Amino acid sequence: MQKTLEYIESHQDQHIRDLSEFLAIPSVSTDAEYKADVERCAAWLSEHLAQCGLENVQQIPSGGHPAVYADWLHAGSNAPTVLFYGHYDVQPVDPLDLWTSPPFEPIVKDGKIYARGAVDDKGQVMLQIKALEACLRSDGRLPVNVKLLIEGEEEIGSEHLEDILREHRERLACDVILISDTAMFGPAMPSLVYGLRGLTYMEITVHGPNRDLHSGSFGGAVDNPANALCAMIAQLKDAFGRIQIPGFYDSVRSVSETERRELQRLPWDEQGYADSLGLAHTNGEFGYSTLERLWARPTLDVNGIWGGFTGEGAKTVLPAKASAKISMRLVPDQDCHDIAEKFEQYIRTIAPPTVRVEVQSLHGGNPALTEIDSVGMRAAMRALELAYGRKPFLQREGGSIPIVLVLQEILAADTVLMGFGLNTENTHSPNEHFSLANYKSGSIATAHFYHELLNLSAGSA
Ligand code: BES
Ligand code: MN
Ligand code: MN
Repeated sequence: MQKTLEYIESHQDQHIRDLSEFLAIPSVSTDAEYKADVERCAAWLSEHLAQCGLENVQQIPSGGHPAVYADWLHAGSNAPTVLFYGHYDVQPVDPLDLWTSPPFEPIVKDGKIYARGAVDDKGQVMLQIKALEACLRSDGRLPVNVKLLIEGEEEIGSEHLEDILREHRERLACDVILISDTAMFGPAMPSLVYGLRGLTYMEITVHGPNRDLHSGSFGGAVDNPANALCAMIAQLKDAFGRIQIPGFYDSVRSVSETERRELQRLPWDEQGYADSLGLAHTNGEFGYSTLERLWARPTLDVNGIWGGFTGEGAKTVLPAKASAKISMRLVPDQDCHDIAEKFEQYIRTIAPPTVRVEVQSLHGGNPALTEIDSVGMRAAMRALELAYGRKPFLQREGGSIPIVLVLQEILAADTVLMGFGLNTENTHSPNEHFSLANYKSGSIATAHFYHELLNLSAGSA
């Protein structure tokens, strides 16, 4: 292990250069214009994995962007097998003018690397690969068997990955699923995540008159679709922050008293959090703390709303239509399709007969909880403590990784969400960046993880 740690330490400059090359490829999965770049990124990644000593590297085609597979399986049949999952696709960069340097020209500034994908998820994928490379180069082997599956469609809901998992189920068989795509509790505060929220994302369009109308000649005589849309949105939540969709809470697992106490023990600075967002106060569902609201309760938010005149100055007009994108974050055991149906039904019930409403379901994913006391989690606890010098926090996460529940179901393995991001690193926003200290500590923690996993598995066999 000492040699591996020294290798990671002495190769940091090279590891940062490798990450920069990865980040320079604009693998924006949602935008058809970038299709060739996404493919180029998969090809670059495949080649890099092979250069690092991984074997059986293969691009697995899907109906959309390819997934990349690689493995190293010479630790013996008594050693456990880990499947690492990550994603090489990234979010769009807009608004571009808010970036202080071009999003696909990575630069290092004040100990951080800036680029789209720096923390989500290319930096975290790369620190995993570098840990494997370091073990292979310093010891000539890995302590455990490792498979990697790095996909190109996470940011668009992992639409085709489920088919790949079913088809290659045997080849992907493993004891532990390892994922680095989440954040730490805070700087120098490592954490393990045991819960993710799910997502249902809807778009609604309200149609009124057959054309835009003069708001004086017609205002008052016909229903205005923008007003109708706002009235409907206002009926989605009550004054206590309770979502009004019938049946919405039916399968929500309530937060246990034990978990509530655990969450209360986390060092959470409520006012500091509000201040950091430029807000006087936080706000949310009545009767729950901020961490409960973020991690253990479902919610509903308008992501965007448009219609009518939005240019400079005033134009007196009644719009012919108005639209909104509305997302719901879900918690176990809500189902994203079931919630989409319930949302649509409720919208149809509250839509006034004077307008026509179109409801469309965009992407989504299911929530997940992971076992806290698995062998994988215990190995990860020890690994993080060795790398960061303190015990990790156990926390949930408000964001979603849609494939996690599917991975658990199909592969029936323990899941470990060991992420190295920070919530202040502008994920999905302009000036996304990743701490180089965590890039290195993440590799170190990962190398420890493989050794600890072998030790613990041998102990329990
Ligand atoms: N890595 C994130 C999930 C995440 C977000 C983890 C915040 C920790 C903190 C992932 O890439 C992501 O952005 N997921 C999407 C899923 C959606 C596009 C289906 C999300 O949560 O919005
Ligand atoms: Mn991610
Ligand atoms: Mn993301």
